[in-house]
Amino acid sequence: RSTLKSVAEKKGEFYFGSTYDTYDADASFNQNVFSTFFNHVVAENGCKWDATEPSRGTSDLTECLAVQSYATTNGATFRGHNTFWHSQTPTWLPGSITASDLVTNVIPQHVQQEIQGMGASVTSWDVVNEIVGDGVSNGMTALQCVQNKKDWPTQTADGSNTALVTDLSFVHAAFTTALQYAGPNTRLAINDYNTGGSDAKTACVLAVLADINANAAIPYNRLAVGFQSHISPTTFVSKAALTATFAKLAALGATAMITELDIALPSGTTAYERLQAAIWGDYLDACLYSSSCVEFINWDTRDDLSWLGTSEAGTLFDSNGNPKVAAFEVQARLQRFL
Ligand code: XIL
Repeated sequence: RSTLKSVAEKKGEFYFGSTYDTYDADASFNQNVFSTFFNHVVAENGCKWDATEPSRGTSDLTECLAVQSYATTNGATFRGHNTFWHSQTPTWLPGSITASDLVTNVIPQHVQQEIQGMGASVTSWDVVNEIVGDGVSNGMTALQCVQNKKDWPTQTADGSNTALVTDLSFVHAAFTTALQYAGPNTRLAINDYNTGGSDAKTACVLAVLADINANAAIPYNRLAVGFQSHISPTTFVSKAALTATFAKLAALGATAMITELDIALPSGTTAYERLQAAIWGDYLDACLYSSSCVEFINWDTRDDLSWLGTSEAGTLFDSNGNPKVAAFEVQARLQRFL
């Protein structure tokens, strides 16, 4: 904690955290890591659309607020994840909504009630989550990048009702509403996976960011790109590539965030734990030494609580709550930065 405080002072700002929901197992382990090892908290599930708007127009921030107050109690800050995503949507949403109703009413109402309800101290919000397709190629426009996405919140189980994306007005509606109701220092993010390097999907994320700046009139100093970073040793994009991407955001005056880092292992051997630690260190260094990168979230606190499962062992703490090699590496890199 004192190291994180010094890092934040040296960098100007730095938030290093993990996921929490009130129903997570092992209160004493969580209490320990969130008051000593992490200084930042995100709800793993408690602020998603299904949890926060159980029926149309109804706001239920019970769990989201409980996670925020857990952060406050532990002297940690809180980030918001997320206001719009195709997954974990409320049961009333799919199939019953037209594109124009979504853009004009549903999205502005949901974004307002959640962001206003959570207050001004939220460091950043994932305003839209995972809106860029996986089959994109270089040179695509922002609209083409988003049209390439196959999953939408209005989609029914049979895949119908995908007519949402004839233009990017749903993204603009989400961001203008978010800007109106967020605190003056809260950053507004687009968050996505398989990004961070010199790949076409990252180029798309940057194109969408530029579109939001130009067409929703959101200044770059309020905009952020969240790099989820659910990776494995084979999908790691390199420290140099991450650094180059973060520099592009710095040049715009926008912010970079590692929002959901986990590093899945082929098996839990000591050799792989060392490899995992080295990659964790590279990720952390890329963020620490880039002026644009100020938030760093490790997705799940420990292997047995992780959505990946214990066999992939993708977190910093093992299933007994003991720090893995990567956790010690993180501490060493933070110290070295000072
Ligand atoms: C995951 C949670 O970790 C799981 O508990 C839940 O069942 C599904 O969602 N991208 C995101 C996160 O933006 O919200 C997802 O979290 C992981 C992928």
